[in-house]
Amino acid sequence: MISVKLHKNGGITTITAEKGENLLKIIQRSGTDFYAPCGGNGTCGKCRVNILNEGVVTSCLYPVDKNIEVILPDDREMKVLSSQYDYSKDVDLDPGDIYSLSDSPIGVAIDIGTTTMVYYFMDLKTGGITDIRSNVNPQIKYGADVISRINFTAETDDGIEELQRQLIDNINLVIGRFCKKHNFSNNDIVRLSIVGNTVMLHTLLGVNALTIAHAPFTPVFTDAKNIPSVELSVDINKDAAVLLSPSLSGYVGADIIAGLASIDESFYQKQFLFVDIGTNGEIVLVTKDRILACATAAGPAFEGANISCGMSAVRGAVSSFKDGISKVIGDVEAEGVCGSGLIDIVAYMLDNEILSMDGNIESDYVIPGSAGSNGIKITQQDIREVQLAKSAIAAGISRLLSIAGISVNDLDNILLAGGFGNYIDIKSAIRIGLLPGINIDKYIQMGNTAGNGAVLALKSESFVTEMEDLKNKVEYIELSTDPDFSMEYAMNMFFT
Ligand code: FES
Repeated sequence: MISVKLHKNGGITTITAEKGENLLKIIQRSGTDFYAPCGGNGTCGKCRVNILNEGVVTSCLYPVDKNIEVILPDDREMKVLSSQYDYSKDVDLDPGDIYSLSDSPIGVAIDIGTTTMVYYFMDLKTGGITDIRSNVNPQIKYGADVISRINFTAETDDGIEELQRQLIDNINLVIGRFCKKHNFSNNDIVRLSIVGNTVMLHTLLGVNALTIAHAPFTPVFTDAKNIPSVELSVDINKDAAVLLSPSLSGYVGADIIAGLASIDESFYQKQFLFVDIGTNGEIVLVTKDRILACATAAGPAFEGANISCGMSAVRGAVSSFKDGISKVIGDVEAEGVCGSGLIDIVAYMLDNEILSMDGNIESDYVIPGSAGSNGIKITQQDIREVQLAKSAIAAGISRLLSIAGISVNDLDNILLAGGFGNYIDIKSAIRIGLLPGINIDKYIQMGNTAGNGAVLALKSESFVTEMEDLKNKVEYIELSTDPDFSMEYAMNMFFT
């Protein structure tokens, strides 16, 4: 047996391993949070670590054959969008029969995103939010996207139990910290309301999501769930219920249904698009007489993965780029580029004819002012990744509009949901062809609508019925079998 010392955040974790064992597997086994976007496929290059007296290695390609000491990147605060209620409706406080369970009843709404998790703590006597917490989804060490995580469960014994454990441990950790800080007992936590994409909710219940990864992408369940807390080993009041909001399909989850149901009813008098851009792009079109939904695999480019200088929206990332000038999260030296910065840079390269309409560049583009040995570069391959991601979203939007028989100019609004949609510059997104070129005033950045939906479901049992009613009105369009999608996808590859 050999010993591996992992240095992180000023602490050391020592773990024993078999000779030849893969370093990433050892890090994953140690339970240490670590960013491995491609889940150990050796393609993203983001799992690099420094081995003392040896240098930098790609941990998922490194078999360990002697005792080593490894320096892991310290955790960095991720820019997480937690609350924005400007366009959210409100509901009366009616959380059901919970007042007999505690004199100071607390509820928790949780938005389990593929990348981040957000917790909203509510005083169930008043309906007021008393605390909000967020963190990186600890499953991220098994891949940045849901497909990598599903593959992990396919390749690993107890893989689904491991993904479930990562979520349950995190829920217990965050609730425990809240109770300690605010002098509550875990027994005062009497209701949980959870949203997330369909794969996240499957892993939360320990249900294998393999069928979602392959055509026809069928989930095991999409209905709302009401589960006794003891069944999930969540350390809260033993008579508390854990509520899961309903999903629509394998790739349009409860985060979208809850988000759609949470927006102000006045929007439903109009025609609008609701777009949640992430590794998986979810798009919903609401017209006078139909609600159509689809999902497109945008890929991890906008999350910084598969981009040579890509990184998450953490300290050191270029998050915006205007007139050749970078803005860096934390106002420190730039180390890489996150999704919103990438879109700005590509728009700038188009405007300055550094990038041609068919997506070609003569040489790598070095971000002005980026120091370090070779500076931060945008490569031809990076541009290709952006073309793939933006055309997936653009083609999804075009298909829904054409199936509904309306044009983009018939829309009253385009609502951008979620963290990424909130931080991007809409002008740049239009410039690269990610979003339609309509009057910019029609765009609304809605914030964390999934979180808002989870909060409303926590507050009111009747909101759960509203979500189910809405879900039953939505027609899901499976783009993978849609004859015209691939043509739209190919056409949207180019820039204009
Ligand atoms: S290259 Fe190792 S996780 Fe992607």
